[in-house]
Amino acid sequence: MAAACIDSYLLGGAAVLLVTLLLSRWIFRKPRSRLPLPPGPRGVPVLGALHLVGESAHSNFARLAASYGPIMSLRLGSHLCVVANDASAARAFLKTADAQFAHRPDHISARDVSYQRQNLVMSDATPTWKHMRKMCSLHLLGGKALADWAPTRRAEFRRLVEAIRRLHEDGEPVPLFDMLICTLANVVGTIAVGGRVFDDYGDESNKFKDVLSDLLTGGAQFNVGDFFPSIAWMDLQGIQAKMLSVHKRFDALVRRLFDEHQRTRESRRGSPDFIDKVMANNESEDGTAISEVNVRALISDLLTAGTDTSSVVVEWTLAEMLKNPAILRRVQAETEAVVGRDRLLEESDIPNLPYLQAVCKEALRLHPSTPLMLPHFSHEDCEVGGFFIPKHTRLLVNVWAIGRDPAVWENPLAFDPDRFLPGGKGAQYDPLGSDGSFAFIPFGAGRRSCAGKLVGMLFVQYLVGTLAHAFDWEMPEGEEEIDMEAKPGLALPKAVPLKAFARPRLSPAAYV
Ligand code: HEM
Repeated sequence: MAAACIDSYLLGGAAVLLVTLLLSRWIFRKPRSRLPLPPGPRGVPVLGALHLVGESAHSNFARLAASYGPIMSLRLGSHLCVVANDASAARAFLKTADAQFAHRPDHISARDVSYQRQNLVMSDATPTWKHMRKMCSLHLLGGKALADWAPTRRAEFRRLVEAIRRLHEDGEPVPLFDMLICTLANVVGTIAVGGRVFDDYGDESNKFKDVLSDLLTGGAQFNVGDFFPSIAWMDLQGIQAKMLSVHKRFDALVRRLFDEHQRTRESRRGSPDFIDKVMANNESEDGTAISEVNVRALISDLLTAGTDTSSVVVEWTLAEMLKNPAILRRVQAETEAVVGRDRLLEESDIPNLPYLQAVCKEALRLHPSTPLMLPHFSHEDCEVGGFFIPKHTRLLVNVWAIGRDPAVWENPLAFDPDRFLPGGKGAQYDPLGSDGSFAFIPFGAGRRSCAGKLVGMLFVQYLVGTLAHAFDWEMPEGEEEIDMEAKPGLALPKAVPLKAFARPRLSPAAYV
């Protein structure tokens, strides 16, 4: 009896102690922050502000920012998001809070296609991610590596010119976007896995084209499960099942390329290609290794991120030039003065073509192919621009709105390349971000910025210059009014793909 009394006495004491401890921890807890969350629309229960965002999220965010300011927070389904809508807000996140926001959210639709986030694009900022970026920069996408595969770009762009010339002979219009995707996938395939993916693999080539386009369009769909992870397992729209099937088809092809590549390793002894170099240097500083799955995921990244982004920008540039023929004529006059009529344009001509460069910059300003960049994600609480940003917040940077900000760009909706020429009001802005202003960041900025920005810029300038120099372009009769609507989604391609007639304008010897 006495023992039971002592037991309950001790138990009661322990309970009082526990409650006191918990209470004192609660009373003396460090407040997460005295700062407020950034302002934003309150939204409605469950959905949050999802219904305000719609398909054209970039333009709706820009509209909302007029009421709430350049740093805005809103709940999209279960997720807290912040949106940076002007250059100073972009700087605050991508420079000041770059390390905190260097991760990516776990986007349910992207899980399978990103090999469960073992790729470069959707991985968190892990040591493996860092090492993969380093390998890409050293052996593929950095300045020195880029120079090494100039012959591949030249050969593939010449094939494109030849294919367009043949369409002219057949009296057919040019399905430009599809042809650009094929060209760039072949360039990337050749340097990444040592083979063209569209032609030389026979039947395989067509399968690759279909699956690549399914992958590109599938990733842009709005999936309810991405905003409500607790019901994602239901896959209400069937998008996850579709993405899994696309991934399986794509991976089967990438595996074959990879296996073939491994089988032929001996034949490259002494002159290793990109994948050989990654496999041979697969260990990062902290000892984690790039696995075979990482490499397959990286190949997939390069074939997707490296093709549609540049193709979107080139298609828009040509559409803008067809809409403003005086601009096309000026590019042709400039390229003709520098290159002449007896050969095709070479990469080495580009530094001597300032107007062409200005046209490409203007296209990147008005038509950035990733208008909200890719989402970033924070793993810790932080304070940005005088606001409290709790951990696990998604960050979207509205590159589209930043490029059209009337406080920075005079007459922002006009396609006016002159603004980038010396003496122009935009002359100081560099799309690669070297000016440090954050006013023109089509490739993003900071440690998560585009890993292929040098090559992306080169693809755009080289392709636009070649297409304008080698051909006169004309819309089919009755279609002279070019539709300039963008297709809503993650990337912003033309809603109606450009189909124009091309007529060779150089001496026949130039096309041989
Ligand atoms: C005009 C062409 C291009 C544009 C406008 C563009 C734009 C972008 C943007 C905005 C991002 C996201 C940046 C961020 O989230 O902070 C990105 C990421 C990326 N881009 Fe590009 N890109 C282009 C071409 C390329 C090319 C040609 C390649 C490779 C061959 C490439 C590879 C990548 C990769 C691997 C990432 C992910 C980087 C990471 O998460 O660490 N891009 N790109």
